[in-house]
Amino acid sequence: MKQALILHGPNLNMLGVREPDIYGAVSLDDINARLQEESIKLGLQLRFFQSNHEGVLIDQLQEAAGWASGVVFNPAGYTHTSVALRDAIAAIQIPVIEVHLSNVSGRESFRQVSLTAPVCRGTVAGFGWRSYLYALHALVELIAEE
Ligand code: DQA
Repeated sequence: MKQALILHGPNLNMLGVREPDIYGAVSLDDINARLQEESIKLGLQLRFFQSNHEGVLIDQLQEAAGWASGVVFNPAGYTHTSVALRDAIAAIQIPVIEVHLSNVSGRESFRQVSLTAPVCRGTVAGFGWRSYLYALHALVELIAEE
């Protein structure tokens, strides 16, 4: 069975209690459980990882290139700052789909810039936890085509 990584960046371990008006009331564990359930229907095996540390996220992306067929990635605050994460995404051959719970295009100007999006295959933003769900479906189709 094909495998994929669901990768969550900084502060996403706080989902559910962190600014719920913006990010929703669903916890990270709940999001992962919902994706896990969906992945069974889709015939894809998922691994989940969250880190608050840029270098650890880079390690995860590099390692994923060795075992995963693709990555669904919410770089969170690093989206707007991290050249190193952008380079890590560009360096690996598997598709990476960027995800945001909130509609970053409609928020503060610094959030409207994504350093990572140009090297991802696409971006899903603004649908709360379902952004991950839609990205997962897109990834399954990309993997099937490749
Ligand atoms: C976020 C949007 C980012 O701007 C923010 O720093 C986050 C979460 C989102 O999922 O909406 O931490 O990536």
